[in-house]
Amino acid sequence: MLSQKHAEKLAEQAILNNEATLSKMRESQGDSSTASSDSSTKVEPQLEILEKVTKTSIFSSKPKLSLKQVMITGASSGFGEEFAKQLAPHAEHLVLIARRKKLLKTLAKELKAQHGIKITLLSGDLTKPRFKAKIERYLRNKGANLDLLINNAGLGDYGSFESADWDKLQQIIEVNITSLLQLTHAAIPKLRANKGSIINISSLSHLIPMPDFAVYAASKAFVSSFSEALAIELEEQGINVLDVCPGPISTNFGQVALRRGNKAEIKRPSWVKISKEQMVRETLQALSKKQGKLYPGLGVKIAATVLAALPIFAIRAIVRKRPWS
Ligand SMILES: NC(=O)c1ccc[n+]([C@@H]2O[C@H](COP(=O)([O-])OP(=O)(O)OC[C@H]3O[C@@H](n4cnc5c(N)ncnc54)[C@H](OP(=O)(O)O)[C@@H]3O)[C@@H](O)[C@H]2O)c1
Repeated sequence: MLSQKHAEKLAEQAILNNEATLSKMRESQGDSSTASSDSSTKVEPQLEILEKVTKTSIFSSKPKLSLKQVMITGASSGFGEEFAKQLAPHAEHLVLIARRKKLLKTLAKELKAQHGIKITLLSGDLTKPRFKAKIERYLRNKGANLDLLINNAGLGDYGSFESADWDKLQQIIEVNITSLLQLTHAAIPKLRANKGSIINISSLSHLIPMPDFAVYAASKAFVSSFSEALAIELEEQGINVLDVCPGPISTNFGQVALRRGNKAEIKRPSWVKISKEQMVRETLQALSKKQGKLYPGLGVKIAATVLAALPIFAIRAIVRKRPWS
C-alpha cells in the first residue's frame, strides 16, 4: 500500500509530466509563444496516440453540418452564445433560451442580419417549472422540427458546502440536472424523427470530486454518467449523444460561481487554457463525426487521460491541494 506522501508525489509527477509533454507538443506544432530553439524532440507518435484515444482531430477543417432546428439553453453568454454564432451559418432555425432577454435580442438581431435565419427566443428561468413546461409544449408542438438540442445552461458555486446558500445549490440542481433531463425527455420524439443529436455540456470536473466545488462537480458527474447511458439507449434510434467536458475557460461562469464578497479568482492553469471559440469549434467537429465524448483542447485531453487512470487515493491527494484556488 502506498503512503499518502508517496501518492501525492506520484500525482504531482503526473501533472508535471503532462505540462512537459504538452509544451513539447506545442513546440513541434510551431507554437511561437512556447517554442524553444531545440526542436529535435520527436513527439509526433505521442500526438498520434492521443488523437486515437480521443478520436478528435483538433486540426481538422470546418464541420459539415446542415441543421433544421437547433435549441440552445444558456444562449445569452459564454459557450451558448458562441454555439449560436458558429451554428448560424449551418442552421435554418435557432431557438435560444436564457433569462437575460436583452442579450438574447441583441444576439438574434446580429445573427438574423448576418445569416437571414429564423430565430425564436424563449426567455425565462430554467429553475421555474412553468417555464420548463412552456419549453416542453414548444418541443411537442407539431411545428417543432428539432434536430439538435444543446443542453448548455449551467452554473457553479465556489466555497465550502457547509457555508453555501441553499437556494444557489438548488439552482445548480435545477439548471444543471433537472432542466437537462426534462428538455431531453421532451425532445426525443422530434430528434428520433429527424435522426438528430443531443449535446450535453458537462465538465472535466466530472472526473474528480472537487472540495469547495462539491455540488457543481457532482452535478457534472451526473451529466456525464447520464449522457453515456442515454447514448447507448438512443443509438439504435439514430440519435447521437455527445458529452462535452471542457476544462476551465474564460466566460461569465467564474463570476457567477463566486459568492458575494469573495474576490478570489478561480485559477485557470495556462496549459489547459483554450478559448470558448475553440471549445465550440471542436464540439461542432465532434458532432459532425457523431462522437460520443469530447475533452476540448490538448491540455484537457491529457489531463482527462491521466485523471481517468489514477487511483482514488492519488485523486484525493491532488484535490486536497485544490489546484484551482
Ligand atoms: N466556463 C468554464 O470554465 C466551464 C468549464 C466546464 C463546463 N462549463 C459549463 O459550460 C456551460 C456554460 O457555461 P459558460 O461557461 O458559458 O458560463 P456563462 O457565461 O455563465 O453562461 C451560462 C448560461 O447559462 C444560463 N443560465 C444560468 N442559469 C439559468 C437559469 N436559471 N435559467 C436559464 N438560463 C440560465 C445563463 O443565462 P442567463 O443568466 O441569461 O439566464 C447563461 O447563458 C455550463 O453548463 C457550465 O457548467 C463551463
